[in-house]
Amino acid sequence: MNLTVDRVSKSFGNKSALTDISLEFTTGVYGILGANGSGKTTFMRIVASVMKPSSGKVLLNGQDIAALDHQYRELIGYLPQQVGMYPNFTAEKFLSYIAALKGLSRTEAQAKVNEVLELVKLSDHRKEKVGKFSGGMTRRIGIAQALLNDPQILIVDEPTAGLDPKERIRFRNLLSQISADRIVLLSTHIVSDIELIAKEILVLKGGRLIRKDTPRELLKPIEGKVWSLLVDETGVSTFQAKYRVEAIARIRDQFQLRIISETKPHPDAVNEDPNLEDLYLHYFDEEVVV
Ligand SMILES: Nc1ncnc2c1ncn2[C@@H]1O[C@H](COP(=O)(O)OP(=O)(O)O)[C@@H](O)[C@H]1O
Ligand SMILES: [Mg+2]
Repeated sequence: MNLTVDRVSKSFGNKSALTDISLEFTTGVYGILGANGSGKTTFMRIVASVMKPSSGKVLLNGQDIAALDHQYRELIGYLPQQVGMYPNFTAEKFLSYIAALKGLSRTEAQAKVNEVLELVKLSDHRKEKVGKFSGGMTRRIGIAQALLNDPQILIVDEPTAGLDPKERIRFRNLLSQISADRIVLLSTHIVSDIELIAKEILVLKGGRLIRKDTPRELLKPIEGKVWSLLVDETGVSTFQAKYRVEAIARIRDQFQLRIISETKPHPDAVNEDPNLEDLYLHYFDEEVVV
C-alpha cells in the first residue's frame, strides 16, 4: 500500500495553512510533529479526505482519492482532535451505533464491537456510560470506533492531549501494535509519544514540511550538542542568560542543567545523548510539553 501526497497546499482565505507538501507513506507509524498552528490538523483532514486541498492531490496506489471517493473513505479510520461522544450511551451501544453508521450489518457489528473492545482493553467497561470514562478510556474508545471498519489507514489527531503518563504509554503501545499492517498517522506536540514507535517523523513548521526522517536521522544535527552540567543556584541564571537551557532538575542543593550548545559550555559539562525533545527545542525554540 502506498499513499502519496503530491504538492498539497491549503489556504483559508488569504491565509496559507499548508504549503507544497509532498511525501509518501507505506505501512507503519508516522509521527507528525509541530507546534500549535503549524498545520497538523489541516494536513490530517486532507489525508482523511474530510477536506479538499486548495491545490495538489493525494493518491492511493496511484489513484486520486477524490476520484476513489467512498472507496477511499472505507479504508480510513479517523480520530479527530475533538470527538463528539454520546455521554449517555454505554461503550457497547456507542460502538454499535457507529458501526451501523459505517454500514456494518448487525451480526458483523456485534463481532467487530467485541473485537475492538478487546483490542483497546475496554471489554470490562462495555456496560458503562462513555460520559463517565477517564481521559485515557475516552481516547481508547475513540480509537475503537476508528477501527470498526478495519481501516488500512488510521489517522489520529493529537490523541494523547490531556492524558497522564501511564495512559500515554498504554496508548502508544496500542498504536504500535495496530500499525503492523496499516499506515498510522499520529500528530502530536509531545515528542516522547512518537520517539519510540514512529518509523518516520514529519516536522511541520508554519505549514511547511521542514524535515521527514527516521528518529535516528533526525537527531543527527544535534548530536554532540547536548550537555548536562551541575551548578549552584546563581549558576542557573548565569547559564540561562548565555545558553539555551532546556531543562533544570534540582538535585539536593544543586541544579542539573540540560544545555544545547555547539561548544562545551563549561569544562565540567558532560555530553548527553540527544532525544527528540532536544530537537524540538532546536527547531521550535520553545518550551516542550512532556
Ligand atoms: N477552518 C479554518 N478556517 C480558517 N483558518 C484555519 C482553519 N483551520 C485551520 N486554520 C488555520 O490554519 C493554520 C493551521 O491550523 P491547524 O491545521 O489547525 O494547525 P495545528 O493542528 O498544527 O494546530 C492555523 O493558522 C489556523 O488558524
Ligand atoms: Mg490541530
